[in-house]
Amino acid sequence: MNWTIFFNIALIFILLSIVYYLYFAVLSPNAGPVYKPTPIKRVREMLKFACLEKNDQVVDLGSGDGRFLIEAVKMGAEKAIGYEIDPLLIWESRQKVKKASFEKRITIYAQSFWKADFNQASIIVAYMFPKYLKKLYPLLNKKLKRKITLVSYDYQIPQIKPDQKKGNIYLYRLPRN
Ligand SMILES: C[S@@+](CC[C@H](N)C(=O)[O-])C[C@H]1O[C@@H](n2cnc3c(N)ncnc32)[C@H](O)[C@@H]1O
Repeated sequence: MNWTIFFNIALIFILLSIVYYLYFAVLSPNAGPVYKPTPIKRVREMLKFACLEKNDQVVDLGSGDGRFLIEAVKMGAEKAIGYEIDPLLIWESRQKVKKASFEKRITIYAQSFWKADFNQASIIVAYMFPKYLKKLYPLLNKKLKRKITLVSYDYQIPQIKPDQKKGNIYLYRLPRN
């Protein structure tokens, strides 16, 4: 093995990974929360806490590997919709949806959640820093045409108090007047 070639390939790979990360997590005009999956136990807990029912439509703002969408459908949601901008996660989550044969009930948009159609949702899930929740809150309040339940993991909407709270899961009924 020629170690110089190996070293150069490794270096190129590392540089490409840094560029990739910087673009999607920091530099993209749509940059939002970086990827950190919600533990699967908490995913189920959050959906139960939101009182998920059979006719619910669950929207995950930054759907990552699709775990919320798949669990929501497994728990009986009529539809689950994800918005994701990281190409690798879009690919991975779509593969998982296909493997679970949930293509008819789960849609993953390769699109920023800032441009999401929030009115598709009866339940919205979010796992993002307060600075993004702060920006999201007026947008939801303005755009939502009917009452929805938003469940947020780990972080609270800075402007308002949650309607309910269970450990580090915060539940809001929106829009608020
Ligand atoms: C903290 S992770 C949460 C992933 C998943 N919802 C979960 O709970 O396991 C945040 C996700 O939001 C995605 N993201 C960041 N900015 C976004 C944007 N503007 N539109 C859509 N997705 C975005 C990231 O790529 C990442 O997958």
